[in-house]
Amino acid sequence: MSFDVVVIGAGPGGYVAAIRAAQLGLKTACIEKGSTLGGTCLNVGCIPSKTLLHATELFHTASHKMGDFGVMAKDVEIDLAKMMHKKEEVVTNLTSGIAGLFKKNKIQWFEGTAKFEAANKLSVVKDGESQIVEGKHILIATGSAPIELQFLPFDEKDVVSSTGALSFTEIPKRLTVIGGGVIGLELGSVWSRLGSQVTVIEFLDRIAVGMDTELAKELLKIMKRDGLKFELSTKVTGMARQEDHIVLTAETMEGEKKSFETDKVLVCVGRKPYTRGLGLENIGVEMDKKGRINVNDHYQTSVPGVYAIGDVIDGPMLAHKAEEEGIAAVERIAGKAGHVNYNVIPGIIYTWPEVASVGKTEDELKAENVAYNVGKFPFKANSRARCVNESQGFVKLIADAETDRLLGAHLIGPNVSELVQELVSVMEFGGSAEDVARTVHGHPTLFETVKEAALAVDGRPIHI
Ligand code: FAD
Ligand code: NAI
Repeated sequence: MSFDVVVIGAGPGGYVAAIRAAQLGLKTACIEKGSTLGGTCLNVGCIPSKTLLHATELFHTASHKMGDFGVMAKDVEIDLAKMMHKKEEVVTNLTSGIAGLFKKNKIQWFEGTAKFEAANKLSVVKDGESQIVEGKHILIATGSAPIELQFLPFDEKDVVSSTGALSFTEIPKRLTVIGGGVIGLELGSVWSRLGSQVTVIEFLDRIAVGMDTELAKELLKIMKRDGLKFELSTKVTGMARQEDHIVLTAETMEGEKKSFETDKVLVCVGRKPYTRGLGLENIGVEMDKKGRINVNDHYQTSVPGVYAIGDVIDGPMLAHKAEEEGIAAVERIAGKAGHVNYNVIPGIIYTWPEVASVGKTEDELKAENVAYNVGKFPFKANSRARCVNESQGFVKLIADAETDRLLGAHLIGPNVSELVQELVSVMEFGGSAEDVARTVHGHPTLFETVKEAALAVDGRPIHI
């Protein structure tokens, strides 16, 4: 069978690309080796993790926060099986929704593993049966997989990747998280809220690497106060299985040896591009040292007619980045001017409080010798935050000292995963701090914190 566009992988990069290609009138197919559509994000990533984060926040709210408002919830209990069932229900609804979108857009879905036989020809294998699918243009969107530590191989039972940590059948008494990045902080929060004693072991001297240092420090302070333990500047060096627990050995940067007894280990030390079994060597697609597929501005690989997007190429491993690249790549294929603005891709950590960032950090601007002004405003001075008793955190805006153009926005606090989008839009349009400061913001809203931070860039916040 032959198509204008064949997409390999139905994650957020691949399925969105397939829908956009079909909208553009291209005869489109999508090959997915999993039994459902949606890739990492919908099946074992963004969606199940955010569902568990919400569920455990509800538990935490009922147990610790509602009483302040005179809402007395006694004997709040966890039914873990029911929580997991709800998570599965959300995932199933969303993944089958994509199957519906494929039908609506007349995209042919091939179930099976794709392998390049030639630049425009793929074999698709499922249960030992093979068929050939041809495409004028082939788009690789095969995503990424968790990095494994040699001495800590995943068994997805006791030593788990994020996939195993999304499906524990019992609440572990002790959970050791290796890696204080996004997954470690989000899933560490989930199990900590459910009662696990969580210890995060991080190689660097900070958590949330890549995020503004001030945000990371604030988050660390809050998470410690909430009961998580952190062992920073520490490298895990080995593991021994005992009868009913695991002992991890580690070494600090100063050379001090430590050991940690634990019941489960979550290894989340990053993800790597996934190209196994794709047969890239058959057609000579060039990759970089980290195993990412090299592409040009049009998402073309070194082989004409073959394109790549999402986690399998350079850049932040984020669903929205993959989606935008998927759209841009097929628009280019269709002769249109698809484009991704890499300067304004928000990054969000869905802990509580949430953390969100877009654009440059102060550290980056210092390194680039750019003069800037900072405006900061705390949620504790925002009336809506007071109404809902969520006054932790702040909004910090960074503007060019000369032009006032917004260069970065860094937020920690309630619902900042949503608030950041105002700043993403302003930055997309090249807006200034003054533009935000002079925009009417509804009252009382958390968004007023953004406006006050913009006023603070010019030293004129009202409520502090
Ligand atoms: P993927 O989603 O990985 O999809 C690739 C697909 O290709 C898979 O379905 C795979 O089965 C298929 N495939 C691979 N090889 C073949 C082959 N040879 N033949 C056929 N099919 C193949 N990002 C966010 O933006 N927000 C979040 O909140 C967030 N939370 C996350 C939480 C967790 C626990 C994890 C692990 C990730 C999270 N991410 C989040 C990251 C996000 O999931 C990824 O950035 C995103 O899924 C990448 O999309 P993709 O389309 O490039 O690849
Ligand atoms: P990460 O890159 O965010 O963090 C990995 C951490 O592990 C780093 O801090 C690193 O210093 C540390 N580390 C590396 N080797 C180590 C070792 N041997 N011992 C101790 N620490 C070590 O990677 P993570 O958390 O695995 O997430 C993978 C990707 O998934 C991220 O790139 C992220 O973009 C994406 N993701 C996004 C989410 C979101 O947008 N909310 C949620 C979850 C994942």
